[in-house]
Amino acid sequence: MRVSIIGTGYVGLVSGVCLAEKGHSVVCIDIDKEKIEKINNCIPPIFENGLEELLGKNIKNKHLVATTDLKRAVLESDISIIAVGTPFDGKNIDLTFIKKASEQIGATLKEKQSYHTVVVKSTVIPGTTDEVIVPALEKHSKKKAGIDFGVGMNPEFLREGCAIKDFMNPDRIIIGGIDEETMKNILQLYENFDDVDMILTNNKTAEMIKYASNSLLATFISFSNEIANICALTKEVDVKDVMAGVHLDKRLNTIMPGGERVNPAFLSYLEAGCGFGGSCFPKDIKALVSYAESKGQKPALLKSVIEINKKQPKKLIDILDDHFESFENLNVAVLGLAFKANTDDMRESPALLVIESLIQKGVNVRAYDPIAMEEAKKILGTTNIKYTKTLDESLDCVDVVILITHWDEFDDLHISLNKLEKQPLIIDGRRKLNKKHYKKYKGVGLNYGK
Ligand SMILES: NC(=O)c1ccc[n+]([C@@H]2O[C@H](COP(=O)([O-])OP(=O)(O)OC[C@H]3O[C@@H](n4cnc5c(N)ncnc54)[C@H](O)[C@@H]3O)[C@@H](O)[C@H]2O)c1
Repeated sequence: MRVSIIGTGYVGLVSGVCLAEKGHSVVCIDIDKEKIEKINNCIPPIFENGLEELLGKNIKNKHLVATTDLKRAVLESDISIIAVGTPFDGKNIDLTFIKKASEQIGATLKEKQSYHTVVVKSTVIPGTTDEVIVPALEKHSKKKAGIDFGVGMNPEFLREGCAIKDFMNPDRIIIGGIDEETMKNILQLYENFDDVDMILTNNKTAEMIKYASNSLLATFISFSNEIANICALTKEVDVKDVMAGVHLDKRLNTIMPGGERVNPAFLSYLEAGCGFGGSCFPKDIKALVSYAESKGQKPALLKSVIEINKKQPKKLIDILDDHFESFENLNVAVLGLAFKANTDDMRESPALLVIESLIQKGVNVRAYDPIAMEEAKKILGTTNIKYTKTLDESLDCVDVVILITHWDEFDDLHISLNKLEKQPLIIDGRRKLNKKHYKKYKGVGLNYGK
Protein backbone atom coordinates (compact mmCIF):
# COMPACT_ATOMS: atom_id res chain seq x y z
CA MET A 1 0.00 0.00 0.00
CA ARG A 2 1.09 3.61 -0.50
CA VAL A 3 0.97 5.09 3.00
CA SER A 4 1.41 8.70 4.14
CA ILE A 5 1.95 9.43 7.83
CA ILE A 6 1.25 12.91 9.17
CA GLY A 7 3.41 13.64 12.22
CA THR A 8 6.80 11.96 12.45
CA GLY A 9 7.40 11.79 16.19
CA TYR A 10 7.83 8.65 18.31
CA VAL A 11 4.66 7.04 16.93
CA GLY A 12 4.77 8.37 13.37
CA LEU A 13 8.40 7.49 12.76
CA VAL A 14 8.26 4.04 14.34
CA SER A 15 5.02 3.25 12.47
CA GLY A 16 6.55 4.51 9.22
CA VAL A 17 9.75 2.52 9.54
CA CYS A 18 7.91 -0.67 10.54
CA LEU A 19 5.23 -0.40 7.84
CA ALA A 20 8.02 0.16 5.28
CA GLU A 21 9.81 -2.92 6.64
CA LYS A 22 6.56 -4.87 6.15
CA GLY A 23 6.60 -3.95 2.45
CA HIS A 24 4.49 -0.79 2.22
CA SER A 25 5.66 2.31 0.42
CA VAL A 26 5.72 4.98 3.13
CA VAL A 27 6.05 8.76 3.17
CA CYS A 28 6.54 10.37 6.59
CA ILE A 29 5.46 14.00 6.86
CA ASP A 30 6.39 16.58 9.46
CA ILE A 31 6.41 20.35 9.81
CA ASP A 32 9.87 20.16 11.40
CA LYS A 33 12.37 20.51 8.51
CA GLU A 34 15.36 19.53 10.62
CA LYS A 35 13.67 16.25 11.58
CA ILE A 36 12.85 15.50 7.93
CA GLU A 37 16.43 16.15 6.84
CA LYS A 38 17.80 13.89 9.56
CA ILE A 39 15.44 11.06 8.63
CA ASN A 40 16.32 11.29 4.93
CA ASN A 41 19.99 11.12 5.98
CA CYS A 42 19.25 7.93 7.97
CA ILE A 43 19.73 9.72 11.33
CA PRO A 44 16.91 8.93 13.81
CA PRO A 45 15.81 12.14 15.57
CA ILE A 46 14.90 10.05 18.66
CA PHE A 47 16.57 7.18 20.46
CA GLU A 48 14.79 3.86 20.12
CA ASN A 49 16.35 0.40 20.14
CA GLY A 50 16.76 -0.94 16.58
CA LEU A 51 15.44 2.23 14.94
CA GLU A 52 18.69 3.39 13.34
CA GLU A 53 19.22 0.11 11.52
CA LEU A 54 15.65 -0.23 10.20
CA LEU A 55 15.48 3.45 9.24
CA GLY A 56 18.76 3.26 7.31
CA LYS A 57 17.69 0.10 5.51
CA ASN A 58 14.29 1.43 4.44
CA ILE A 59 15.53 4.87 3.40
CA LYS A 60 18.26 3.26 1.27
CA ASN A 61 15.88 0.80 -0.42
CA LYS A 62 13.43 3.69 -0.96
CA HIS A 63 10.54 2.04 0.90
CA LEU A 64 10.53 5.13 3.14
CA VAL A 65 11.00 8.80 2.47
CA ALA A 66 10.37 11.87 4.63
CA THR A 67 9.00 15.23 3.48
CA THR A 68 7.36 18.46 4.61
CA ASP A 69 5.10 18.38 1.54
CA LEU A 70 1.84 17.01 2.97
CA LYS A 71 -0.18 17.73 -0.14
CA ARG A 72 1.99 15.71 -2.49
CA ALA A 73 2.34 12.86 0.01
CA VAL A 74 -1.42 12.56 0.48
CA LEU A 75 -2.14 12.85 -3.25
CA GLU A 76 0.36 10.09 -3.99
CA SER A 77 -0.83 7.66 -1.29
CA ASP A 78 -3.91 5.46 -0.72
CA ILE A 79 -4.12 5.83 3.01
CA SER A 80 -3.07 8.59 5.45
CA ILE A 81 -2.29 7.95 9.10
CA ILE A 82 -2.59 10.89 11.52
CA ALA A 83 0.06 10.59 14.25
CA VAL A 84 0.43 14.19 15.48
CA GLY A 85 0.65 15.05 19.18
CA THR A 86 -2.44 15.41 21.38
CA PRO A 87 -1.13 17.21 24.49
CA PHE A 88 -3.17 18.35 27.51
CA ASP A 89 -3.76 22.10 27.61
CA GLY A 90 -4.27 22.30 31.38
CA LYS A 91 -8.03 21.76 31.13
CA ASN A 92 -8.73 19.46 28.19
CA ILE A 93 -7.10 17.50 25.41
CA ASP A 94 -5.52 19.98 23.00
CA LEU A 95 -6.72 19.19 19.48
CA THR A 96 -4.85 22.02 17.71
CA PHE A 97 -2.48 19.68 15.82
CA ILE A 98 -5.22 17.17 15.00
CA LYS A 99 -7.53 19.88 13.65
CA LYS A 100 -4.79 21.46 11.54
CA ALA A 101 -3.72 18.10 10.11
CA SER A 102 -7.37 17.21 9.30
CA GLU A 103 -7.90 20.55 7.55
CA GLN A 104 -4.74 20.05 5.49
CA ILE A 105 -5.70 16.50 4.52
CA GLY A 106 -9.25 17.68 3.72
CA ALA A 107 -7.99 20.49 1.47
CA THR A 108 -5.85 17.93 -0.39
CA LEU A 109 -8.71 15.45 -0.77
CA LYS A 110 -10.63 18.20 -2.57
CA GLU A 111 -8.15 17.77 -5.44
CA LYS A 112 -7.86 14.02 -5.25
CA GLN A 113 -9.83 11.98 -7.77
CA SER A 114 -9.52 8.52 -6.21
CA TYR A 115 -10.94 7.17 -2.94
CA HIS A 116 -8.72 7.78 0.10
CA THR A 117 -8.68 6.41 3.65
CA VAL A 118 -7.78 8.52 6.67
CA VAL A 119 -6.74 6.72 9.88
CA VAL A 120 -6.36 8.38 13.26
CA LYS A 121 -3.50 6.85 15.26
CA SER A 122 -3.07 9.73 17.72
CA THR A 123 -4.70 9.14 21.10
CA VAL A 124 -7.96 11.10 21.07
CA ILE A 125 -10.94 11.35 23.40
CA PRO A 126 -14.05 9.33 22.34
CA GLY A 127 -15.98 11.21 19.70
CA THR A 128 -13.01 13.16 18.31
CA THR A 129 -12.72 11.15 15.08
CA ASP A 130 -16.43 11.26 14.26
CA GLU A 131 -17.25 14.70 15.63
CA VAL A 132 -14.10 16.75 15.00
CA ILE A 133 -11.99 15.03 12.35
CA VAL A 134 -14.76 13.88 9.97
CA PRO A 135 -16.43 17.35 9.88
CA ALA A 136 -13.04 19.04 9.27
CA LEU A 137 -12.24 16.62 6.44
CA GLU A 138 -15.69 17.09 4.88
CA LYS A 139 -15.61 20.88 5.20
CA HIS A 140 -12.19 21.27 3.58
CA SER A 141 -12.63 18.61 0.90
CA LYS A 142 -16.23 19.48 0.09
CA LYS A 143 -16.69 15.70 -0.10
CA LYS A 144 -18.61 13.15 1.94
CA ALA A 145 -17.10 10.67 4.39
CA GLY A 146 -18.30 7.13 3.61
CA ILE A 147 -18.71 7.98 -0.08
CA ASP A 148 -15.60 9.81 -1.29
CA PHE A 149 -13.26 8.83 1.51
CA GLY A 150 -13.13 6.58 4.57
CA VAL A 151 -12.22 7.49 8.16
CA GLY A 152 -11.03 5.07 10.82
CA MET A 153 -9.38 4.96 14.22
CA ASN A 154 -6.44 2.66 14.96
CA PRO A 155 -4.92 3.45 18.37
CA GLU A 156 -1.26 2.71 18.96
CA PHE A 157 -0.04 0.62 21.91
CA LEU A 158 3.74 0.69 21.37
CA ARG A 159 5.90 1.35 24.43
CA GLU A 160 8.85 3.69 24.11
CA GLY A 161 12.05 1.76 24.71
CA CYS A 162 10.78 -1.30 22.82
CA ALA A 163 8.67 0.50 20.24
CA ILE A 164 9.96 -1.34 17.17
CA LYS A 165 9.44 -4.73 18.78
CA ASP A 166 5.96 -3.73 19.95
CA PHE A 167 4.93 -2.39 16.55
CA MET A 168 6.25 -5.43 14.66
CA ASN A 169 4.69 -7.90 17.14
CA PRO A 170 1.56 -6.18 18.44
CA ASP A 171 -0.45 -7.74 21.26
CA ARG A 172 -3.66 -6.47 19.60
CA ILE A 173 -4.82 -4.47 16.65
CA ILE A 174 -7.86 -2.31 17.26
CA ILE A 175 -9.58 -0.90 14.23
CA GLY A 176 -12.51 1.47 14.26
CA GLY A 177 -14.12 2.73 11.08
CA ILE A 178 -17.14 4.52 9.72
CA ASP A 179 -17.85 1.71 7.25
CA GLU A 180 -16.64 -1.64 5.91
CA GLU A 181 -14.60 -0.12 3.09
CA THR A 182 -12.56 1.84 5.67
CA MET A 183 -11.99 -1.26 7.82
CA LYS A 184 -10.96 -3.29 4.77
CA ASN A 185 -8.36 -0.69 3.81
CA ILE A 186 -6.93 -0.39 7.33
CA LEU A 187 -6.74 -4.19 7.56
CA GLN A 188 -4.53 -4.18 4.46
CA LEU A 189 -1.94 -2.22 6.43
CA TYR A 190 -1.55 -5.21 8.73
CA GLU A 191 -1.74 -7.94 6.06
CA ASN A 192 1.88 -9.01 6.58
CA PHE A 193 1.73 -9.16 10.36
CA ASP A 194 1.68 -12.53 12.11
CA ASP A 195 -1.57 -13.75 13.59
CA VAL A 196 -2.70 -11.21 16.12
CA ASP A 197 -5.93 -10.66 18.04
CA MET A 198 -8.00 -7.94 16.40
CA ILE A 199 -11.08 -6.01 17.34
CA LEU A 200 -13.06 -4.34 14.59
CA THR A 201 -15.37 -1.78 16.08
CA ASN A 202 -16.62 1.79 15.78
CA ASN A 203 -14.32 4.80 16.13
CA LYS A 204 -15.52 5.82 19.60
CA THR A 205 -14.91 2.35 21.05
CA ALA A 206 -11.44 2.23 19.47
CA GLU A 207 -10.67 5.63 21.01
CA MET A 208 -11.93 4.51 24.43
CA ILE A 209 -9.96 1.22 24.40
CA LYS A 210 -6.72 3.21 24.33
CA TYR A 211 -7.76 5.39 27.31
CA ALA A 212 -9.03 2.42 29.31
CA SER A 213 -5.74 0.56 28.72
CA ASN A 214 -3.55 3.48 29.81
CA SER A 215 -5.80 4.27 32.78
CA LEU A 216 -5.57 0.69 34.06
CA LEU A 217 -1.75 0.67 33.98
CA ALA A 218 -1.50 4.13 35.57
CA THR A 219 -3.90 2.97 38.30
CA PHE A 220 -1.66 -0.04 39.03
CA ILE A 221 1.28 2.32 39.46
CA SER A 222 -0.49 4.77 41.77
CA PHE A 223 -1.97 1.86 43.75
CA SER A 224 1.54 0.47 44.28
CA ASN A 225 2.84 3.88 45.29
CA GLU A 226 0.03 4.43 47.78
CA ILE A 227 0.80 1.03 49.34
CA ALA A 228 4.52 1.99 49.32
CA ASN A 229 3.88 5.16 51.26
CA ILE A 230 1.85 3.29 53.88
CA CYS A 231 4.58 0.62 54.20
CA ALA A 232 7.24 3.29 54.64
CA LEU A 233 5.45 4.67 57.69
CA THR A 234 5.36 1.22 59.26
CA LYS A 235 8.62 0.18 60.91
CA GLU A 236 10.20 -3.06 59.62
CA VAL A 237 7.96 -3.18 56.56
CA ASP A 238 9.53 -2.84 53.13
CA VAL A 239 7.15 -2.44 50.20
CA LYS A 240 9.45 -4.59 48.10
CA ASP A 241 8.74 -7.61 50.29
CA VAL A 242 5.07 -6.70 50.43
CA MET A 243 4.64 -6.49 46.66
CA ALA A 244 6.67 -9.69 46.18
CA GLY A 245 4.04 -11.37 48.37
CA VAL A 246 1.20 -9.75 46.43
CA HIS A 247 2.70 -10.92 43.11
CA LEU A 248 2.51 -14.54 44.26
CA ASP A 249 -1.30 -14.47 44.24
CA LYS A 250 -2.26 -17.19 41.77
CA ARG A 251 -4.87 -14.89 40.29
CA LEU A 252 -2.06 -12.53 39.20
CA ASN A 253 0.21 -15.14 37.66
CA THR A 254 -0.18 -18.60 36.21
CA ILE A 255 1.18 -21.68 38.01
CA MET A 256 2.11 -24.23 35.35
CA PRO A 257 1.42 -27.98 35.93
CA GLY A 258 5.11 -28.43 36.92
CA GLY A 259 4.78 -25.69 39.55
CA GLU A 260 6.65 -23.06 37.55
CA ARG A 261 5.21 -19.54 37.73
CA VAL A 262 4.65 -17.44 34.62
CA ASN A 263 4.75 -13.79 35.59
CA PRO A 264 2.70 -11.52 33.36
CA ALA A 265 4.33 -8.26 32.23
CA PHE A 266 1.78 -6.15 34.10
CA LEU A 267 3.41 -7.11 37.41
CA SER A 268 6.11 -4.55 36.56
CA TYR A 269 3.38 -1.92 36.99
CA LEU A 270 2.66 -3.27 40.46
CA GLU A 271 5.94 -2.06 41.95
CA ALA A 272 6.73 1.00 44.04
CA GLY A 273 8.51 3.89 42.39
CA CYS A 274 8.75 7.66 42.09
CA GLY A 275 5.76 7.96 39.77
CA PHE A 276 4.92 7.66 36.11
CA GLY A 277 5.87 10.21 33.47
CA GLY A 278 6.19 10.19 29.73
CA SER A 279 4.15 11.61 26.92
CA CYS A 280 1.10 9.40 27.46
CA PHE A 281 -0.07 8.37 30.94
CA PRO A 282 -0.10 11.83 32.60
CA LYS A 283 -1.84 13.63 29.74
CA ASP A 284 -4.17 10.76 28.85
CA ILE A 285 -5.51 10.23 32.36
CA LYS A 286 -6.07 13.97 32.77
CA ALA A 287 -7.84 14.14 29.40
CA LEU A 288 -10.10 11.22 30.35
CA VAL A 289 -10.93 12.86 33.68
CA SER A 290 -11.90 16.12 31.98
CA TYR A 291 -13.93 14.19 29.39
CA ALA A 292 -15.78 12.29 32.14
CA GLU A 293 -16.46 15.57 33.97
CA SER A 294 -17.80 17.13 30.78
CA LYS A 295 -20.33 14.27 30.76
CA GLY A 296 -21.33 14.96 34.37
CA GLN A 297 -19.39 12.11 35.95
CA LYS A 298 -16.97 12.45 38.89
CA PRO A 299 -14.08 10.07 38.09
CA ALA A 300 -12.82 9.86 41.69
CA LEU A 301 -10.45 6.92 41.14
CA LEU A 302 -8.67 8.44 38.13
CA LYS A 303 -8.39 11.80 39.89
CA SER A 304 -6.64 10.06 42.79
CA VAL A 305 -4.33 8.27 40.36
CA ILE A 306 -3.14 11.68 39.12
CA GLU A 307 -2.98 13.19 42.60
CA ILE A 308 -0.86 10.33 44.02
CA ASN A 309 1.41 10.48 41.01
CA LYS A 310 1.93 14.23 41.29
CA LYS A 311 3.19 13.86 44.86
CA GLN A 312 5.32 10.74 44.38
CA PRO A 313 8.61 12.27 43.11
CA LYS A 314 8.51 14.57 46.15
CA LYS A 315 8.91 11.52 48.41
CA LEU A 316 12.56 11.40 47.31
CA ILE A 317 13.05 15.03 48.34
CA ASP A 318 11.27 14.34 51.67
CA ILE A 319 13.81 11.56 52.35
CA LEU A 320 16.62 14.03 51.66
CA ASP A 321 15.02 16.65 53.94
CA ASP A 322 14.76 14.11 56.76
CA HIS A 323 18.40 13.17 56.44
CA PHE A 324 20.17 16.55 56.24
CA GLU A 325 19.84 19.69 58.36
CA SER A 326 21.68 21.84 55.83
CA PHE A 327 22.14 21.55 52.09
CA GLU A 328 25.18 23.80 51.89
CA ASN A 329 27.93 22.28 49.74
CA LEU A 330 25.90 19.08 49.39
CA ASN A 331 26.76 17.19 46.20
CA VAL A 332 23.87 15.19 44.82
CA ALA A 333 24.06 12.92 41.79
CA VAL A 334 20.80 12.25 39.96
CA LEU A 335 20.93 9.04 37.95
CA GLY A 336 18.51 8.35 35.11
CA LEU A 337 16.80 11.38 33.61
CA ALA A 338 14.47 10.01 30.92
CA PHE A 339 10.98 9.07 32.11
CA LYS A 340 11.96 5.43 31.74
CA ALA A 341 14.90 3.35 30.61
CA ASN A 342 15.80 2.78 26.95
CA THR A 343 14.38 6.07 25.71
CA ASP A 344 15.60 9.66 25.55
CA ASP A 345 12.07 10.98 26.11
CA MET A 346 12.11 13.50 28.98
CA ARG A 347 8.44 14.47 28.77
CA GLU A 348 6.95 14.62 32.30
CA SER A 349 9.90 12.67 33.72
CA PRO A 350 9.93 12.62 37.56
CA ALA A 351 13.59 13.70 37.21
CA LEU A 352 12.42 17.18 36.19
CA LEU A 353 10.57 17.78 39.45
CA VAL A 354 13.32 16.25 41.58
CA ILE A 355 16.10 18.28 39.93
CA GLU A 356 14.10 21.52 40.12
CA SER A 357 13.55 20.95 43.88
CA LEU A 358 17.26 20.21 44.38
CA ILE A 359 18.26 23.40 42.58
CA GLN A 360 15.83 25.40 44.75
CA LYS A 361 17.51 23.98 47.84
CA GLY A 362 20.87 25.14 46.55
CA VAL A 363 22.53 21.73 46.38
CA ASN A 364 25.19 21.01 43.74
CA VAL A 365 23.42 18.84 41.19
CA ARG A 366 25.14 16.43 38.86
CA ALA A 367 23.04 14.54 36.36
CA TYR A 368 23.76 11.42 34.38
CA ASP A 369 21.74 9.37 31.91
CA PRO A 370 23.19 6.96 29.36
CA ILE A 371 21.05 8.36 26.51
CA ALA A 372 18.87 11.33 27.49
CA MET A 373 21.52 13.98 28.33
CA GLU A 374 20.93 16.17 25.26
CA GLU A 375 17.15 16.09 25.71
CA ALA A 376 17.60 16.90 29.42
CA LYS A 377 19.79 19.91 28.62
CA LYS A 378 17.08 21.24 26.28
CA ILE A 379 14.52 21.22 29.13
CA LEU A 380 16.57 21.83 32.28
CA GLY A 381 19.28 24.07 30.82
CA THR A 382 22.93 23.88 31.76
CA THR A 383 23.44 26.68 34.32
CA ASN A 384 22.62 24.91 37.59
CA ILE A 385 23.43 21.33 36.66
CA LYS A 386 26.69 19.58 35.91
CA TYR A 387 26.03 16.89 33.32
CA THR A 388 28.62 14.15 33.64
CA LYS A 389 29.81 11.99 30.76
CA THR A 390 30.06 8.81 32.80
CA LEU A 391 28.49 7.20 35.84
CA ASP A 392 31.83 7.20 37.69
CA GLU A 393 32.27 10.93 37.08
CA SER A 394 28.86 11.64 38.62
CA LEU A 395 29.81 9.66 41.75
CA ASP A 396 33.08 11.48 42.45
CA CYS A 397 32.95 12.98 45.99
CA VAL A 398 29.19 12.75 46.05
CA ASP A 399 27.12 12.91 49.27
CA VAL A 400 23.84 11.59 47.91
CA VAL A 401 22.83 9.50 44.90
CA ILE A 402 19.19 9.73 43.83
CA LEU A 403 18.17 7.06 41.38
CA ILE A 404 15.21 8.13 39.26
CA THR A 405 15.29 5.86 36.22
CA HIS A 406 16.80 2.43 36.39
CA TRP A 407 19.02 1.69 33.40
CA ASP A 408 20.82 -1.71 33.32
CA GLU A 409 24.09 0.20 33.78
CA PHE A 410 23.00 1.04 37.35
CA ASP A 411 22.72 -2.62 38.36
CA ASP A 412 26.40 -2.47 39.32
CA LEU A 413 26.20 0.87 41.11
CA HIS A 414 27.58 -0.73 44.28
CA ILE A 415 30.72 -1.84 42.41
CA SER A 416 31.38 1.75 41.31
CA LEU A 417 30.69 3.01 44.84
CA ASN A 418 33.04 0.45 46.40
CA LYS A 419 35.92 2.26 44.71
CA LEU A 420 35.11 5.44 46.68
CA GLU A 421 36.42 6.42 50.11
CA LYS A 422 33.21 8.03 51.33
CA GLN A 423 29.93 6.14 50.86
CA PRO A 424 27.03 8.40 49.83
CA LEU A 425 23.40 8.08 50.90
CA ILE A 426 21.46 6.18 48.24
CA ILE A 427 17.87 7.25 47.64
CA ASP A 428 16.38 4.59 45.40
CA GLY A 429 13.40 5.94 43.47
CA ARG A 430 12.75 2.65 41.67
CA ARG A 431 13.62 0.02 44.28
CA LYS A 432 15.59 -1.95 41.72
CA LEU A 433 18.85 -1.90 43.71
CA ASN A 434 19.73 -4.55 46.24
CA LYS A 435 19.65 -2.62 49.53
CA LYS A 436 22.10 -5.07 51.12
CA HIS A 437 24.85 -3.75 48.84
CA TYR A 438 24.68 -0.23 50.25
CA LYS A 439 25.86 1.18 53.57
CA LYS A 440 23.38 4.05 53.66
CA TYR A 441 20.23 3.14 51.78
CA LYS A 442 16.79 4.73 51.64
CA GLY A 443 14.09 4.25 49.08
CA VAL A 444 10.47 4.62 48.12
CA GLY A 445 8.32 2.52 50.42
CA LEU A 446 11.00 1.94 53.05
CA ASN A 447 11.28 3.73 56.42
CA TYR A 448 10.45 7.35 55.71
CA GLY A 449 11.56 9.73 58.45
CA LYS A 450 14.82 9.68 60.42
N1 LIG B 1 4.90 8.28 22.41
C1 LIG B 1 4.25 7.13 22.70
O1 LIG B 1 4.79 6.24 23.36
C2 LIG B 1 2.83 6.94 22.24
C3 LIG B 1 2.28 5.65 22.29
C4 LIG B 1 0.96 5.47 21.84
C5 LIG B 1 0.24 6.56 21.39
N2 LIG B 1 0.79 7.80 21.38
C6 LIG B 1 -0.01 8.91 20.86
O2 LIG B 1 0.43 9.18 19.52
C7 LIG B 1 0.37 10.58 19.25
C8 LIG B 1 1.74 11.09 18.83
O3 LIG B 1 2.61 10.95 19.93
P1 LIG B 1 4.19 11.15 19.77
O4 LIG B 1 4.80 10.83 21.08
O5 LIG B 1 4.65 10.45 18.55
O6 LIG B 1 4.24 12.74 19.52
P2 LIG B 1 5.48 13.62 19.10
O7 LIG B 1 5.28 14.95 19.74
O8 LIG B 1 6.75 12.88 19.33
O9 LIG B 1 5.31 13.78 17.51
C9 LIG B 1 4.31 14.51 16.88
C10 LIG B 1 4.88 15.08 15.59
O10 LIG B 1 3.83 15.65 14.82
C11 LIG B 1 4.35 16.76 14.12
N3 LIG B 1 3.25 17.57 13.63
C12 LIG B 1 2.38 18.34 14.32
N4 LIG B 1 1.47 18.90 13.50
C13 LIG B 1 1.76 18.47 12.24
C14 LIG B 1 1.19 18.69 10.96
N5 LIG B 1 0.13 19.47 10.78
N6 LIG B 1 1.76 18.11 9.89
C15 LIG B 1 2.84 17.31 10.03
N7 LIG B 1 3.42 17.06 11.23
C16 LIG B 1 2.89 17.63 12.32
C17 LIG B 1 5.26 17.42 15.15
O11 LIG B 1 6.20 18.29 14.55
C18 LIG B 1 5.91 16.18 15.80
O12 LIG B 1 7.11 15.84 15.16
C19 LIG B 1 -0.19 11.22 20.53
O13 LIG B 1 -1.57 11.34 20.42
C20 LIG B 1 0.18 10.22 21.60
O14 LIG B 1 -0.69 10.29 22.71
C21 LIG B 1 2.08 8.01 21.78
